[in-house]
Amino acid sequence: MKSIVFGLQWGDEGKGKVTTYLSRKYDYVVRYSGGSNAGHTVEYGDFKLVHHLVPSFDVRTDTIGYISNGVVVDLEVLNKEVEELKRLGFDVSKRIKVSNLAHVVLPVHKMLDEKFEMAKGDKAVGTTKRGIGPAYADKVHRIGLRLVDFEDKQNALEKLKFISELYKNLYSIDWTDYDKVFEEYEKIRSFVVSPIEIRKELQNSNVLFEGTQGVMLDIDMGSYPYVTGTYCNTTGVEPGLGYPMNIDKRIGVFKAYLTRVGEGPFPTELFGEDAEKLRKAGKEYGATTGRPRRCGWLDLPLLKYAIEISDCTEMIMTKADVLSCMDKILVGVRYTLCGKKIELPTNLEMLSKVEVEFIEFEGWKDLNDVNFKKFVEFLEKETGRKITYISTGANVEDIVKM
Ligand code: GDP
Ligand code: IMO
Ligand code: MG
Repeated sequence: MKSIVFGLQWGDEGKGKVTTYLSRKYDYVVRYSGGSNAGHTVEYGDFKLVHHLVPSFDVRTDTIGYISNGVVVDLEVLNKEVEELKRLGFDVSKRIKVSNLAHVVLPVHKMLDEKFEMAKGDKAVGTTKRGIGPAYADKVHRIGLRLVDFEDKQNALEKLKFISELYKNLYSIDWTDYDKVFEEYEKIRSFVVSPIEIRKELQNSNVLFEGTQGVMLDIDMGSYPYVTGTYCNTTGVEPGLGYPMNIDKRIGVFKAYLTRVGEGPFPTELFGEDAEKLRKAGKEYGATTGRPRRCGWLDLPLLKYAIEISDCTEMIMTKADVLSCMDKILVGVRYTLCGKKIELPTNLEMLSKVEVEFIEFEGWKDLNDVNFKKFVEFLEKETGRKITYISTGANVEDIVKM
């Protein structure tokens, strides 16, 4: 069995918690995209984890996590996560593998991310400043460092010096602390594997691919330019692995409302008191940057678009419990542009210009309420997809199979 869990919105749908819950049925959890911009919070009850790079497998089981070459790896962040797990009593050093073709996020990437954002002024994307865009750009510029380069220290040193020179000349960025990179590399050296070596193992195992960000942040299919640097749609699995992989289930996760961190259009966004109420009830603060997340109502045209382009086979809804703080619940059902109705945002440039028609649902006290059942039935009918699980709280066990 091969499945993907991925986000159907602008990230933070609760993928980490869902992946952890489902991971018990799989031998591997594989990250195929993104980097430490991801923040997947998993509440276990007596402890809590925030995964940035370590795949969201249940740390109490013996599932293995593989970080494939589609991921850009900040070695310091990875080491910190592994150390935190050790402190909590989980030695996962034999349960994490990283592709030797994965590119490394260097301090210069984070410095350039910051510099670009500053220079863009009011056109800034609102990135996480984790160096994601510059690391992927250097991969394409063919100057990036891959883990395989570190097998020969002299070779890695030459490449680090080269990139440092380029950054100095092109961007006036000064950085020469190569020793720190080698120090971090030494700590994860034993995790590094060849993607060829692991291919057969993955083919013969039950694998759960863990998406990062969400379809609307995909570099091509998202709300460009307010997106991340790579493929976070389901299409990212194969480039992320470097070889074909047949997938049985594409499980899309969505929140019963909508959030977004950073800049960009958000047609169903709420402001003022209602936004604050939702933010507070849903604890909507970025897991990576701590920024308050922008909050709004569920956007059906956007959800339908995400379902279509991801070829989502089933859905999991999260955080409907949070909506019990609202008396009335709205869902954006249609966009209009210059008085004309449009069903799907075929041109994402239009997103900032559309007006939204909403329908209203009566609020619910808890998830057994008939009003909530009506909400679920409506969403299944509109999307043509079954909601197979409903997450009912932050804890990894708070989930109901439908
Ligand atoms: P991810 O990036 O998609 O993994 O999502 P985040 O971890 O960034 O954000 C989701 C937040 O909501 C986390 O703090 C989760 O612990 C929490 N969460 C997940 N599912 C639920 C749910 O069904 N109800 C509530 N109240 N919280 C949830
Ligand atoms: P998870 O996996 C929500 C957003 C940033 C910014 C844009 C580009 O936790 O769902 P980047 O640093 O990637 O260049 O920033 O993408 N972003 C996320 N928003 N959840 C995430 O990940 C995100 N990763 C990046 O806020 O708007
Ligand atoms: Mg997150």
